Amino acid sequence: MELKRKVGYEAANLIKDGDVVGLGTGSTTHYFIEKLGNRIEIEEISIMGVPTSYQSFYLAMNSKIPITTLDEHNVDIAVDGADEVDPELNLIKGGGAAHTLEKIVDESAKQFIVIVDGSKIVTELGSFPVPVEVIPHATRTVKDHLIAMGGLPTLRMAERKDGPVVTDNGNFIYDVKFDIKNPKKLETELNTIPGVVENGIFSQIVDQVIVGRDSGIEILKK
Ligand code: A5P
Repeated sequence: MELKRKVGYEAANLIKDGDVVGLGTGSTTHYFIEKLGNRIEIEEISIMGVPTSYQSFYLAMNSKIPITTLDEHNVDIAVDGADEVDPELNLIKGGGAAHTLEKIVDESAKQFIVIVDGSKIVTELGSFPVPVEVIPHATRTVKDHLIAMGGLPTLRMAERKDGPVVTDNGNFIYDVKFDIKNPKKLETELNTIPGVVENGIFSQIVDQVIVGRDSGIEILKK
């Protein structure tokens, strides 16, 4: 938790007066959003946030961050967490089922910064299964495609509700184990399956990763 707080605060201090900020989802960006709200109150800077989920929307509201949308503003800087980061700064995201809106906001930003603790840094993506958001009507047909592509899909089940997890967009999630040799190719191929809304591979869109380690903060750049 302490490392997540450290990188969250570090990223919040990078935000400049006037920025439109993409607000990522998860336990790490939680600290980023709280600290950003704190800076707005204390420094009286003018910031607007574009949430990537209901979680970040409500957290932004509680932190008194003015909220806007992609229809109204371009995003200057997006800050988001990740489940895995490889040496080329490709990511797996979607552990919290928010990767679809995250990818839309993060990809649109002039600058995209990822905040993680050191446990998320890997030599090769794939220990963490790739989240794939699926339109409910396509649950069986998408599963067949995923298996034909060499994946091992598991439908993500809810913990405090009977049945599958339902995303902020009203869809289901497959968590798919893949042997990932080429993240960009897999990302593109997954999105050609009819019924797939978006997958959690984010290849080649990150500008900077802020890594929290016990020894201090490490910055990884493209
Ligand atoms: C949300 O769906 C995810 O993409 C998160 O950004 C990712 O799982 C990182 O979450 P934590 O910061 O909680 O590890």
